[in-house]
Amino acid sequence: MTASDFQHQTVLLREAVELLRPADGRVIIDGTLGGGGHSEALLASGATVVGVDRDPVALAAATARLGANPRFQGRAGNFAELPRVAADLLPVDGVLVDLGVSSPQLDVAERGFSFSKDGPLDMRMGPDGPTAAELIATTDERELVRILKDYGEEPFARPIARELKKALPTRTLEAAEVVKRAVPRKAWPNRIHVATRTFQALRMAVNGELEALDALLAAIPGLLKVGGRAAVIAFHSLEDRKVKEAFRALAGRCTCPPGLPVCVCSGVGDFALVTKKAVAASEAEVEANPRSRSAHLRVVEKLR
Ligand SMILES: C[S@@+](CC[C@H](N)C(=O)[O-])C[C@H]1O[C@@H](n2cnc3c(N)ncnc32)[C@H](O)[C@@H]1O
Repeated sequence: MTASDFQHQTVLLREAVELLRPADGRVIIDGTLGGGGHSEALLASGATVVGVDRDPVALAAATARLGANPRFQGRAGNFAELPRVAADLLPVDGVLVDLGVSSPQLDVAERGFSFSKDGPLDMRMGPDGPTAAELIATTDERELVRILKDYGEEPFARPIARELKKALPTRTLEAAEVVKRAVPRKAWPNRIHVATRTFQALRMAVNGELEALDALLAAIPGLLKVGGRAAVIAFHSLEDRKVKEAFRALAGRCTCPPGLPVCVCSGVGDFALVTKKAVAASEAEVEANPRSRSAHLRVVEKLR
């Protein structure tokens, strides 16, 4: 794949870039470089940008596109490990992560993310770790049910997990057929493919996506200068909930469960919520790019 083949339509571009306040001399880490759309706009404002991606194909394509700019640097790595991957830069003025996969990752059959194109059942964003086929083979049925329920909100998690364990698919279309067999025809969803939720859940498990997000959120205080901002774009309700709760905790708002007679969580925090509510894509953006429909952008600023 060449750099020009690697096309990803950037979501919430203007909103994320404005809220990160890039400027001459500011250093911003783009923890999910992807096609480089956010990085390109951050560079255009005069900032120095370090783009990190765990996918060597994305990193190479974005570096080919942006690498001529002396204020850009690409690095291989997982944003869960920014304290190590970006140790020489810290603290910085801004950190952005735009979660999930990019369109080229989904579209290339060989990457194994697609239920409509035949390829190996891989789904790894980077070169490490077990593939989705290996995950199915080595995970017990109960845990597979949990993965499908928690990450995919799949109502037929049990029969799907049972069939996956029986069939042990190694190809994407084979796995999609297994899901079709496991779900009664009359219960197939109208608007999405019947295997959408299963594929999403397997992808999240294979790539440890929620664990990476947890690690990033926990690292934010050590990544930013005073006045620095962190921005996260989430597409999955579980992820957005994690971001919302972590940012509230950083801002020191009461996070006690409703009904407690007194606040037991803490006082005022070292961060301010820049976005009180998640920023969503405009109607025009959703029309132009349906994937942006589920995007939620939240931003915090370090105060002290
Ligand atoms: C939605 S795309 C980012 C698109 C980018 N903002 C743009 O405008 O083109 C997500 C990218 O993040 C990468 N990625 C996902 N999780 C990651 C992680 N934990 N660490 C590093 N990169 C990650 C994926 O490989 C993918 O290239």
